[in-house]
Amino acid sequence: MTATAARSILPPLSPEERRHSRSLAGLIRAQLAAAGGWLSFERFMELALYAPGLGYYSAGSVKIGVGGDFVTAPEVSDLFNRCVARQCAEILTATGGEILELGAGTGRMAATVLTALASQGVLPQRYAILEVSADLAARQRARLAQLPPQLRERVVWLERLPETPLRGVMLANEVADALPCRRFTWRDGAVRELGVALAEAAAVGGNAACGEEISFREQCAAADAALVRACEGLLASLEGELPEGYVSEVCLRVEPWVATLGKCLERGALLLSDYGLPRRHYYHRERVAGTLRCHFKHRAHDDPYINLGVQDMTAWVDFTRVAEAALAAGLTVSGFATQTAFLLASGLDGFVAEAADGVERARLAGEARRLLMPEENGRGVQIHGAHARLRRSAQRLCAAGSAPPAVSRRQFSGYWETAITLHRSMRDHHDRARLQAAPCRP
Ligand SMILES: C[S@@+](CC[C@H](N)C(=O)[O-])C[C@H]1O[C@@H](n2cnc3c(N)ncnc32)[C@H](O)[C@@H]1O
Repeated sequence: MTATAARSILPPLSPEERRHSRSLAGLIRAQLAAAGGWLSFERFMELALYAPGLGYYSAGSVKIGVGGDFVTAPEVSDLFNRCVARQCAEILTATGGEILELGAGTGRMAATVLTALASQGVLPQRYAILEVSADLAARQRARLAQLPPQLRERVVWLERLPETPLRGVMLANEVADALPCRRFTWRDGAVRELGVALAEAAAVGGNAACGEEISFREQCAAADAALVRACEGLLASLEGELPEGYVSEVCLRVEPWVATLGKCLERGALLLSDYGLPRRHYYHRERVAGTLRCHFKHRAHDDPYINLGVQDMTAWVDFTRVAEAALAAGLTVSGFATQTAFLLASGLDGFVAEAADGVERARLAGEARRLLMPEENGRGVQIHGAHARLRRSAQRLCAAGSAPPAVSRRQFSGYWETAITLHRSMRDHHDRARLQAAPCRP
């Protein structure tokens, strides 16, 4: 989608949104000036999402849900959250301990998981939330305050990862795709970094559709050593060269993030669910424009330089990178599945069948369809499990039907292929769906 096409599907900014967007643009302009006129896309994305008081996640817009910009699986239906709870129950039964949720959004998953675990008699000692957005943390507090006292008293908010090693489960839904990423392009047989510069005065024009100014543009620069190394690594695992002008992303923050989580996890499992693909498909020759997507009022587009601070920005996760990071951190990769496979193997159909009456069953069936069907919300989400020192009996992570309970490095590639095959057919539908204004991410 071109920038012009993106703008044509977007609603105009409100005066307040426009003011907010201009303030953030001012901050980024100042940082650009201080940095000599060029910022890496990673730094730009970090400011756009997390600049204190101004970034999308730091400021007060609704963000998630019907009145916001996008809907995540935990918000589509509690069926998703109940499946996650079932997985947590299995792990907690073996490990005891706690749940730590990273980036808990509105708190809906936390509320449902705790309620479901209470009914199964496997409550965690505590449900800790590590949330970088003060605004979302406030919404989580308000929501979880409505739980019965024996559940809400288990919920705590952390400023940083716990210092004492954790036993139990770590959850992160759609957090890895919100980590700032680098962007690169392949030109003349070499990798170049895509960053951000100020738009030329002549190129700055009024944007009637969005009612804001366009101030930034993409600009190429020499790739630094870290980016060259990362791209060499991923190119080595691909067949053949990338086409001239190919653009994609690489998230160098995955390794330190997973390493820190792995260090914190003494015994238990880390369950990541996100939009993403294994490397060979992520960097497919035909995916020439990468996976970066922006979300504004339930429209998906690919222009990160508009609606600053009032739109979400996300790039898909290279799950091979996550797996490599997990192995390097001393974790075992336990499973990898599409969202559809995960939910079906976790008994989603049983939850629908248990509905109290026909009306409730019809409602749940509609929600299940959204979670499962590629053209609805079951799309490209992959579930990735990694664990540390779990006994075999508790290793049925990512209950993906035929998945082996534990995947060694050697078995891993075979399992990967299964996931790819499942995923491929979903992508085609998904890409078609994305061309229209998308009601759900991306
Ligand atoms: C797309 S939202 C997903 C929210 C929620 N998990 C859901 O599925 O509805 C991304 C969330 O991750 C949080 N986040 C981003 N980076 C984070 C980090 N490094 N640690 C913890 N939370 C983070 C954001 O503040 C936000 O709550």
